[in-house]
Amino acid sequence: MKLYIDLLAGDGIGPEVIDQAVKVSNAVAKKFNHEIEWTSALTGAAAIDAVGEPYPDSTHEICMAADAVLFGAIGHPRFDNDPTAKVRPEQGLLKMRKKLGLFANVRPTFTFPSLIDNSPLKRERIEGTDLIILRELTGGIYFGERGRSEDGNTAFDTCTYTKDEVVRLAKLGFEMAMQRSKKLCCVDKANVLETSRLWRQTVQGMEKDYPEVTVSYEFVDAVAMRLVQWPSSYDVLITENLFGDILTDEASVISGSMGLMPSSSIGIHTSLFEPIHGSYPQAAGKDIANPLATVLSAAMMFEDAFGLKEEAELIRSVVNKSLAEGIVTEDLAGKNKAYKTSEVGDWLAANL
Ligand code: IPM
Ligand code: MN
Repeated sequence: MKLYIDLLAGDGIGPEVIDQAVKVSNAVAKKFNHEIEWTSALTGAAAIDAVGEPYPDSTHEICMAADAVLFGAIGHPRFDNDPTAKVRPEQGLLKMRKKLGLFANVRPTFTFPSLIDNSPLKRERIEGTDLIILRELTGGIYFGERGRSEDGNTAFDTCTYTKDEVVRLAKLGFEMAMQRSKKLCCVDKANVLETSRLWRQTVQGMEKDYPEVTVSYEFVDAVAMRLVQWPSSYDVLITENLFGDILTDEASVISGSMGLMPSSSIGIHTSLFEPIHGSYPQAAGKDIANPLATVLSAAMMFEDAFGLKEEAELIRSVVNKSLAEGIVTEDLAGKNKAYKTSEVGDWLAANL
């Protein structure tokens, strides 16, 4: 099979972790007789520096023409400390999500047997955790009207959702639940917010189409608490953009390191695969970042964008093997030897 993949390495550790995912993907492709054509394009602070724009049209065209996009990370501290900056790397990410129609962000949280004791939570709390947060990605407060009063002392951001936006996200949630344990949790703040009441009402109205799925409705504050108490009690959760942003960061550390969890964003045009972690600027260029979340994102890409399940499973198994044998970066090494980002990538590619 010929695979056309767009690479958006982005900022910070993005290029380093993307390099490892490319190594592993090429090794898998060789083994299964696929041919990958990679095209690189600019995004984030790197794109601002080069062309003054974090998601240039040229990058969008390349994304639209590809079968899948593999994305590193976006963000640079130079912009974080300057609230007056007119162009910001993150705007590129939001623009890309909107223009590619990536309305659903799939963020799984699972545990690795060999890493259970790396988790900030106790073993008995997290054993068996295997959940997916399905985050709405192109609506809500991220994209609503915002502004300042003339004197600059009042600011507002608005959260808007349409029923159709809720339906298309919830539909994916119900379908995912059908493939898994038939449990779906709708996370909202319906005791306060009108948009949440629309979400709840819409999802309730869809229940009859999926009679086998048991749906629970929980407030986001309670979910934030239960996620660290009994994460294994959840399976598929659906939620709006901002709640999903916060809960997925919380969930991502359950497995033991933020450097482990992959994600996909799917919707109308080309699907995108990326690690959940950010650009980690302190580590950029040091060859110390954990590449596994990006490598596992590539596995998700093989399976979800190309239907190549065996290839995906092979990647996951070699990742498990590296963890079991301690071929890990410093975030996971503890007192043992820490391997470099590139060494982990080389080892994975060689041991497939
Ligand atoms: C994420 C990130 C982004 C978001 C930022 C960088 C805009 O935190 O992908 O979760 O808030 O969506
Ligand atoms: Mn986030």
